Amino acid sequence: MKSIADSETTYTELMIPAYANFGGKVHGGLLLSVMDKVAYVCASKHSGSYVVTVAVEGVEFLSPVDVGDLLTVKASVNYVGRTTMIVGMRIESFNPRTGSSRHTNSCYFTMAAKNDDGTLKEVPGLIIQNEKELIRFCEGKTIRDISKQKRATLKSNLKHLDKAALMALCEHENCTIQQA
Ligand SMILES: CC(C)(COP(=O)(O)OP(=O)(O)OC[C@H]1O[C@@H](n2cnc3c(N)ncnc32)[C@H](O)[C@@H]1OP(=O)(O)O)[C@@H](O)C(=O)NCCC(=O)NCCS
Repeated sequence: MKSIADSETTYTELMIPAYANFGGKVHGGLLLSVMDKVAYVCASKHSGSYVVTVAVEGVEFLSPVDVGDLLTVKASVNYVGRTTMIVGMRIESFNPRTGSSRHTNSCYFTMAAKNDDGTLKEVPGLIIQNEKELIRFCEGKTIRDISKQKRATLKSNLKHLDKAALMALCEHENCTIQQA
């Protein structure tokens, strides 16, 4: 068993001009890459092993990140299963000139622990030490359950719907069905 504090990770990086998109703001892909690395650090500390990214939930860019900002990612293992961990991350963008800080995004990365031979590795359980950690653990469990249901829905249901049912689903959507 390990505590959440054992693997909690905070990382700050300066957003340099090379990270900008055509609109002068920081590329979403760059932010994803930073988050992936921080999730790796946090999950590998908890599992004591090499880890891989399995799934990403809840990435929403709520406000743009400017060049010159200091981007901080705070990460903790919120939930653990048998071989996977859900790492919760909060991303903040700080403007050092104005002193203002913006919450740009919160998200969850599912990371799997691997043995040296590539097989899945069991991870230590979590020691939950306060109510905030308990709430996060339960949120993680809910995210896992909803994500499983979503995958099952995408795999099964829609393929079995007939054309009329599919067309009914598209009613009031922004599309024109010319041939289906
Ligand atoms: C994801 C992966 C680990 C699943 O392996 P598997 O043998 O099919 O796994 P299982 O069905 O036995 O599930 C193993 C664990 O993965 C979880 N899992 C599997 N698919 C998942 C998904 N789509 N989303 C979230 N979790 C998932 C299961 O819930 C289970 O978790 P637990 O052990 O903590 O209970 C495997 O497909 C893999 O290694 N993928 C490649 C990951 C990778 O290389 N990422 C880098 C991207 S370049």
